[in-house]
Amino acid sequence: METQIRKINLKSLEYAKQLLLQGELVAFPTETVYGLGADARSDEAVGKIFQVKGRPSDNPLIVHVHKDFEIKNLVKDVSDYAQKLREAFLPGPLTLVYQSRGVVCSKVSCGLDTLAIRVPSHKGAQEFLKYVDIPVAAPSANLSKHVSPVSALHVNNDLDGKIPLILDGGNCSGGIESTVCDVTGPYPQILREGLVSREMIEEVVGFCNVYKPKEGERVRSPGMKYKHYSPACSTKLFESFEVEQAVECFLRLKHDGFRVVVLCEDKIKNNFTEDSVMNLGKTDYEMAANLYELLRRAEKMADVIVAVCPEKQDGIMAGVQNRLKKACAEIK
Ligand code: TXA
Ligand code: MG
Repeated sequence: METQIRKINLKSLEYAKQLLLQGELVAFPTETVYGLGADARSDEAVGKIFQVKGRPSDNPLIVHVHKDFEIKNLVKDVSDYAQKLREAFLPGPLTLVYQSRGVVCSKVSCGLDTLAIRVPSHKGAQEFLKYVDIPVAAPSANLSKHVSPVSALHVNNDLDGKIPLILDGGNCSGGIESTVCDVTGPYPQILREGLVSREMIEEVVGFCNVYKPKEGERVRSPGMKYKHYSPACSTKLFESFEVEQAVECFLRLKHDGFRVVVLCEDKIKNNFTEDSVMNLGKTDYEMAANLYELLRRAEKMADVIVAVCPEKQDGIMAGVQNRLKKACAEIK
């Protein structure tokens, strides 16, 4: 199959719609990462997502809709605080998990009785979702376990020849995936940290829990249990207080003849030789936006990535830390 990469305009949107309605897959941009979309009402189309990505069949998908879509047809909405969250953050990088009405095909939620819905704010994503006007099931548009794509080229690197169309909406500004938040209980519960932080949610509704699976418990967000976001080369991860050890490791690897890239925040970059550093940046938002772009660049030029966690842990950095650790930790 030939994969076309096309800018978003009326012609490409019409083509995208035809493809989706025929049960084909279409990759599209969002403000977080690129998504790999299928008609959420079609078993066959949704099945293709799992097949093309090599995704485990028990990891549910998020349904994407435009901002005027009536989500009441898809889910039961009982909590008042969910309405407050929608008003405060949508369209935007917050995915809410509701009780499902079982309208979309069961493969989307992998048999769970809940459904995750996301209303992306990216202009091209809104245009696409409005034009097709159906619920679009979409995971990140990478091969399973690889780093999520933040440009059309990244999608093409993973899925060339496997899907017919990539809608190109430029580079994603957010850089890490949406926050996934369960709103079926008495208070919101974050299942995956992301660009809407716990602190931001608490400001709107007072309290929010970050779910951590207990030993032996069935994982609430099945995606959490898998190895994720990994670059193709080896990685060595250090905590922010282990800069000395990171420098030692860097020097030893260089001495042994390995090609090494150091991934770290701006303020510690001078500990390493300039031409080896990929600078995550100074601010939280910069670091989120740069993370996947740099991991994808680094895996192409390095045998080993030496990554040092940024110091800040709260706000959206909780999500950045989570992704960096999943990408680089030796124990996944
Ligand atoms: O920013 C994003 O969320 C991107 C863009 C494309 O929208 N999408 C994305 O999808 O990251 P994916 O499939 O890579 O991650 C979806 C996450 C997984 O961890 C999955 O387990 C969780 O959402 N999830 C989906 N449906 C769920 C449900 N019903 N209950 C609990 N977790 C769910
Ligand atoms: Mg993903």
